[in-house]
Amino acid sequence: MAPGDLDYVLDLAGRLYPNHPESRSSFEAKLRAAPDACFVAETDGVPVGYCVALWATCGRPPKLDEASYTAKAPVGLHLHDIALEPSARGQGAVAAGLVRLARLAGSSTLSLVAVEGTQALWRRHGFVEAAVDEAVRTTYGQHAVYMVLAR
Ligand SMILES: CC(C)(COP(=O)(O)OP(=O)(O)OC[C@H]1O[C@@H](n2cnc3c(N)ncnc32)[C@H](O)[C@@H]1OP(=O)(O)O)[C@@H](O)C(=O)NCCC(=O)NCCS
Repeated sequence: MAPGDLDYVLDLAGRLYPNHPESRSSFEAKLRAAPDACFVAETDGVPVGYCVALWATCGRPPKLDEASYTAKAPVGLHLHDIALEPSARGQGAVAAGLVRLARLAGSSTLSLVAVEGTQALWRRHGFVEAAVDEAVRTTYGQHAVYMVLAR
């Protein structure tokens, strides 16, 4: 992902999460913090999805829309958001993205916050529920669930 991709990222995020708006500065900060952990999925050169991850304090990931964030030990790789156009789903893009992130995380924790009822989907990809800062979790909505990849 490059800064020029953020128009697309904000457009897709706005279409998929109308109830959880996130600012450009929040996405910009994450891309600046971990450019190798943020990428765009393309089909024939056309963007069809994105993945935004960053190094974060285990159990205390960034709040939704938190642009100013400093990770403290213990630190792990946190999948902040992954989203695909409906036409690009069900083709293994999530599994491929997770392989890439797991490689980057190495022996560190790989975490995410499951929103929009995706907890079962992440369980199928090997994630389990874990303890998290409650004030952070609720910024993602009442039913958000913090999960880490079981190894
Ligand atoms: C989440 C997302 C990236 C998954 O992409 P995908 O290519 O469909 O993922 P996979 O192929 O690995 O898994 C698909 C399975 O998960 C299910 N699934 C996908 N999104 C789901 C959701 N929001 N709630 C429940 N199940 C969901 C699909 O029905 C499918 O189940 P099936 O195999 O039994 O048919 C995609 O659905 C998406 O972009 N959703 C909107 C953004 C979003 O919610 N992102 C996750 C934030 S934590």
